[in-house]
Amino acid sequence: MSVSLERVGIRYRGGVDAVRDVSLAVAKGEFVAVLGPSGCGKSTILNAIAGLLDPEATELSGRILIDGAEARTRSRRELNLGYVFQRDALLPWQTIEQNVQVGLAIRGVHERERALRSRELLVMAGLAGFERYYPHQVSGGMRQRAALVRTLAYDPDVILMDEPFGALDAQNRMLLQSELLRIWELTPRTILFVTHDLAEAIVLAQRVVVMSRRPGTVKAVYDIALPYPRDAFALRGASEFVELEATIWNALRDEFRAPVEGGVAPLGPPAGPV
Ligand SMILES: Nc1ncnc2c1ncn2[C@@H]1O[C@H](COP(=O)(O)OP(=O)(O)OP(=O)(O)O)[C@@H](O)[C@H]1O
Ligand SMILES: [Mg+2]
Repeated sequence: MSVSLERVGIRYRGGVDAVRDVSLAVAKGEFVAVLGPSGCGKSTILNAIAGLLDPEATELSGRILIDGAEARTRSRRELNLGYVFQRDALLPWQTIEQNVQVGLAIRGVHERERALRSRELLVMAGLAGFERYYPHQVSGGMRQRAALVRTLAYDPDVILMDEPFGALDAQNRMLLQSELLRIWELTPRTILFVTHDLAEAIVLAQRVVVMSRRPGTVKAVYDIALPYPRDAFALRGASEFVELEATIWNALRDEFRAPVEGGVAPLGPPAGPV
């Protein structure tokens, strides 16, 4: 499925303009990463696509299209979206295996099929042997893997990922990037991947979107013309990678500087008698 935002604006009632005039088209099977400073509306955009914004509390302008039809006119089941949240959202009272099966159960997949499918994915994610553990009994990296696997289990057409590896240490992060790359290379699906990590965006995505600070707008979009299959580790040393990193950082850097609203008084000499 393709996802397309046409001049989308989102305002929290009684609060702030989160995003303004965002247009972005993600083709079917395309992997797009989104970078931008904290508070520029990245999670808000994902929530809007997933239909998770409270219409009472937000004003949405513009259009969000999924396969050409307005997202809000279509049912959850029809849309078949997967969402890996900014904080891993495993159910603490269910085991890793039960968590992975949750989405399948909701979709009415038969118990036997559920067990087979979750088993296969847990092995792939290096979680074999931990099926019966509860989330608090495994590491943060393992919880994050389980959250990823849970989303993959029901084979969504579109996957929204909100800083899914943000809480991981550098090594685990790179391992999961490799796994995600492998999965996507085998069965490309539409992925919108929000991250704070510039290198991660380049390593994974076909295109990188840089957003401005709030109210977030699309500042620039970069094609990442690095061939797949990609090696998440080796790529970081490649000259093309280093060049892209410098170019994109140039655009991103300004958005992290303090906003100058109405001008800032210059620092004068110390006042008063010394
Ligand atoms: N439920 C809410 N009610 C009111 N304002 C909100 C709500 N959620 C987010 N906002 C505001 O909207 C803006 C965008 O928030 P959002 O969470 O989308 O940013 P973000 O880009 O995902 O940031 P981060 O990188 O820190 O996760 C922020 O200024 C935030 O304060
Ligand atoms: Mg966020």
